[in-house]
Amino acid sequence: MAPASREILVTNALPYANGPIHVGHLVGYIQADIWVRFQRARGHKVHYVCADDAHGTPIMLAAEQAGQAPEDFIRGVQAEHEADFAAFGVAFDHYHSTHSEENRALATRIYTALRDAGLIETRTIEQAFDPEKQMFLPDRYVRGTCPRCGAEDQYGDNCESCGATYTPEELKHPRSAVSGATPEWKPSEHYFFRLADMQQAIVDWMDAPDTHIQPAVRAKLGEWMREALRAWDISRDAPYFGFEIPDAPGKYFYVWLDAPIGYFASLKALCAQRGDDFERFIAAGSDVEMWHFIGKDIVNFHGLFWPAMLQGAGMRTPTALNVNGYLTVNGAKMSKSRGTFIRAATWRAHVNPELLRYYFAAKLANGVEDLDLNLEDFVARINSDLVGKYVNIAARCAGFIHKRFDGRLADTVHDPALLDSLRAEADAIAAAYEARNYASAVRQIMALADAVNESIQDIAPWKLAKQEGQEALLHGACTTFLNAFRILSLYLSPILPDLTARALQFLQDEAAQWDALSRTLTHHPIAPYAPLLTRVDTQTMTAMTDDARSDLEAKTDAPETRGAPQADTIDIKDFTKVDLRVARIVRAESVEGADKLLRLTLDVGILGERQVLAGIKAAYAPEDLEGRLTVIVANLAPRKMRFGTSEGMVAAASFGDGKPFLLSPDSGAEPGMRLA
Ligand code: 2FM
Ligand code: ZN
Repeated sequence: MAPASREILVTNALPYANGPIHVGHLVGYIQADIWVRFQRARGHKVHYVCADDAHGTPIMLAAEQAGQAPEDFIRGVQAEHEADFAAFGVAFDHYHSTHSEENRALATRIYTALRDAGLIETRTIEQAFDPEKQMFLPDRYVRGTCPRCGAEDQYGDNCESCGATYTPEELKHPRSAVSGATPEWKPSEHYFFRLADMQQAIVDWMDAPDTHIQPAVRAKLGEWMREALRAWDISRDAPYFGFEIPDAPGKYFYVWLDAPIGYFASLKALCAQRGDDFERFIAAGSDVEMWHFIGKDIVNFHGLFWPAMLQGAGMRTPTALNVNGYLTVNGAKMSKSRGTFIRAATWRAHVNPELLRYYFAAKLANGVEDLDLNLEDFVARINSDLVGKYVNIAARCAGFIHKRFDGRLADTVHDPALLDSLRAEADAIAAAYEARNYASAVRQIMALADAVNESIQDIAPWKLAKQEGQEALLHGACTTFLNAFRILSLYLSPILPDLTARALQFLQDEAAQWDALSRTLTHHPIAPYAPLLTRVDTQTMTAMTDDARSDLEAKTDAPETRGAPQADTIDIKDFTKVDLRVARIVRAESVEGADKLLRLTLDVGILGERQVLAGIKAAYAPEDLEGRLTVIVANLAPRKMRFGTSEGMVAAASFGDGKPFLLSPDSGAEPGMRLA
């Protein structure tokens, strides 16, 4: 029976506009996108929105460091984010920015409603102030010595060495991470949201029968609810990149106040485009479901503050929170030096993005546990499941239809029971998708693919093709197996939208819809078969991790550092450890198989010749470099890379992932000269 039609607003956590999307982020986006595609395949109406989270101190400082106005800076980052999402098939209906007029209006509206309901209070607090930068410092921007264990260079709110938490005032030898100045403590009036007044409303929301929250998340929220919630500081002082609070000049909404409101802002822009009524989505009691897909680090914002804000402002509440865990790569935290800090852009330069969707789906159950991307296992799984089981069905049968039957399927299938057995699993597979238990859906679908392959093995169309009088059986069998392939394609379509769309094009069938499962294609022309997917090899993965590593080593491609405050100072002793030398580029060559690298042979005067692999290919043709002077770090330990050993590093400048500029001394400098 067709399920009753639903209308669902789906959101993903808004990525900050100061760093690239990496594979860790993609878990939540891919999870939500699969769910959206599944719901649509079932005939439900889904609005899927997201935006860049554009405000706050780190973004303000990153823009300053990049020498750009924040508005320009966030625009550039947003364009990269959108390109990454599109490449991974994460297809939002609208992608917006929290720095938008819609968001300003909605943040103001919600804040004003909270204030008018008596839920905002003001209080003067003491905060670290950087006298050089003339700005208040968030706790993370005060560094110093841990008051408990004495570890140096710790954040203002917690010690990474002993785990102690404290206030910046307790830090010993505090300094500003922005300018290095010793902070002062200054009073400032802040605006607070009286969360305790909304505590019962939060409990009521959590406990409502139609609110979906995973058990582990519910337990965590319950823990927080055991005590009265402290008022939440929602204001920040100028200078701050954000929205000024309407009745408080010089005070700005804290980034986390207007971030979730960004979901509504994006939806509002979408409604304007479509001529839809936005208010019906946000009104209390709206019958549109609202599902938020988020990571486990931001449960407090979505499970406490956001429902409190919404109810305080007289608006609807979320229908569900879907929380995902963190991603590890090869069993460990993503690491730049191991090449496992893989940006979305690096992945897609090497490996078909859709395959990552499949791998994540195969591992995503509906819990909040962390998930491991094991690159060897990835290769094995793709080759075994998708190439060896799924695509193999079409590859083994399609040729006969063209060679022997003029590209047309038979009038009847030879084994309708096989197709029925595949269709019999539709409800169980749908239930697994619905519950975001994609691992279970994938297991079930692959078990069906196994059954189809066994049947192909039994019938052995390649043997029938050689036997006299077996034409009808060959035709009917291949028609059965291609129909089985079609059913599996429909089942896999939320996970693999591109591959399955190509599969359905090959079958000259329509876009994947769940209710098309009951159809059988007979007496139906199909297109000539072209390979739908080829095997992945471990070399490709190694090239990708090498690239991820050299992104960092070449210092031309590490935008995740853009959002960081200026580096802490080093003393002259540290600096003189670095042997910077003038070098002449004797030869520059492309490196086969490496998109970004050039192999440079450098004459470093008295130090002799060096071979260096530099990630500058995007900006320089090899022939333009030969003869040119540059600067190298001559005492960097040689590093073995996939494409050879690199004996040093050339100095190039860039804004994170922007174009690299090779540094050169003035003419007259000689190779081997030391920089001082
Ligand atoms: O944690 C983050 O990356 C935030 N930018 C997520 C914001 S989600 C929403 F509330 F806006
Ligand atoms: Zn400590």
